[in-house]
Amino acid sequence: MAKKAYIHTFGCQMNVHDSEKMAGILLREGYTFTDIPQKADLIVFNTCSIRQKAEQKFKSELGRTKSLKRKNPFLKIAVAGCIAQQEGREIFKKNPQVDYVLGPQNIHKIGSMIRTNEVMVSIEDNPEIGHIDLPVLRKDGIRAWVSIMYGCDNFCSYCVVPYTRGREKSRPSKNIYNEIFKLALCGFKEVALLGQNVNSYRSDIDFESLLKRINTIEGIERIRFVTSHPRDLSEGLMSCIKELPKVCEHIHLPLQSGSNRVLKLMNRGYTYTDYMKKVERLRKEVPDIAMTTDIIAGFPSETDKDHISTIKALRAIEFDGIFAFKFSPRPGTKAEEMGEQISDDIKSQRLAEILDIQDEITLRKNKTIEGKVQEVLVEGESKTDKGKMTGRTRTNKIINFCGDNSLTGQLVNVEIVKAMRHSLEGKLVI
Ligand code: SAH
Ligand code: SF4
Ligand code: F3S
Repeated sequence: MAKKAYIHTFGCQMNVHDSEKMAGILLREGYTFTDIPQKADLIVFNTCSIRQKAEQKFKSELGRTKSLKRKNPFLKIAVAGCIAQQEGREIFKKNPQVDYVLGPQNIHKIGSMIRTNEVMVSIEDNPEIGHIDLPVLRKDGIRAWVSIMYGCDNFCSYCVVPYTRGREKSRPSKNIYNEIFKLALCGFKEVALLGQNVNSYRSDIDFESLLKRINTIEGIERIRFVTSHPRDLSEGLMSCIKELPKVCEHIHLPLQSGSNRVLKLMNRGYTYTDYMKKVERLRKEVPDIAMTTDIIAGFPSETDKDHISTIKALRAIEFDGIFAFKFSPRPGTKAEEMGEQISDDIKSQRLAEILDIQDEITLRKNKTIEGKVQEVLVEGESKTDKGKMTGRTRTNKIINFCGDNSLTGQLVNVEIVKAMRHSLEGKLVI
């Protein structure tokens, strides 16, 4: 009987996609998959180290595998991803049940790891990562993540990513083009180009040229990209969003803070004014563009005044949505060592205020599109709104509407009947 793997993914889209790659390799090795850890012959944790919470969640899950291993000594346990990279062989000290540890630059080794019966650790730098094409097992047949670059060189003072994913490396444009060409042949309609800092993509061609090439691929209807760094948002990229028909009118552009003093301490490489100028320019070029962002509340030494600058920025920019987090001191980062760490109470208060204000803005912004008709890529039946179909607008807003399953994978026009904070209700326009 085929061996079964259980894969548990924590963290960002990068990890979600890395898990699709590990699943692709495991499938090639003859594995099938299960959602039940008790039934698995192999458990893979793809871990995230971005904030303490993500780490704690994983650690308690990992602890539970001790008893599973006692019951089934043949069970193999792999720890992959960003915590694997940071902790390396330290993981074995508290968790002797673990068999394999592999960092994000070495996930391609999962095949050879499971073939040998030896305990293994692979956390070395992998300069070849950009050139290794892996099989990918995608659950969805409509939208696909596609890696275009790996790692990050920015060293924002709070962030572990440059330490866990290593130096920035772009994938050759030919490999990206071929992967997407094949996806189109398989019926995929949308690609999301993936990297920690996609707009600094540079290999044989630059990011704008890459978008132009992908825009020519027949069958692909929509192109998205995450995440963009505000410093590297060029006018050329703004023109691509405006002029290339398949590039969607949405950008995720993490601001982090509205205070110049804090932005400097964060090593973000832009001021609030720089950011604002780019937003204004972008909105002039692409008036209906949706903008989302990330905000950190309670960075070390953040004063009430700094916090108010962030609130003012949120009110001035009016993002379509935000992801906001309490600052979490992470091992090995500069911000962990900084004086004047903010108490958890104040961090929670500031975060709550940020979220409240944004909720109001998000709802107000969504209301402005009530009555309008928008193009929607239908993803399938809604899980939250039973009996309805679900999809996204080009601006990446989720919309539910009455229709039948045969619409899945199609582009349809939907009138926005009611706007809520996190989704829209619509009516199919025939
Ligand atoms: N490369 C992307 C995403 C990085 S991680 C970028 O630069 O925007 C996603 C988000 O997590 C970051 O934008 C930041 O807001 C948040 N984050 C990263 N490290 C954090 C920390 N130590 N504490 C709290 N939030 C953090
Ligand atoms: Fe982290 Fe900054 Fe790199 Fe984003 S740009 S991954 S926040 S170091
Ligand atoms: Fe987490 Fe690593 Fe992504 S730390 S957010 S899984 S890059």
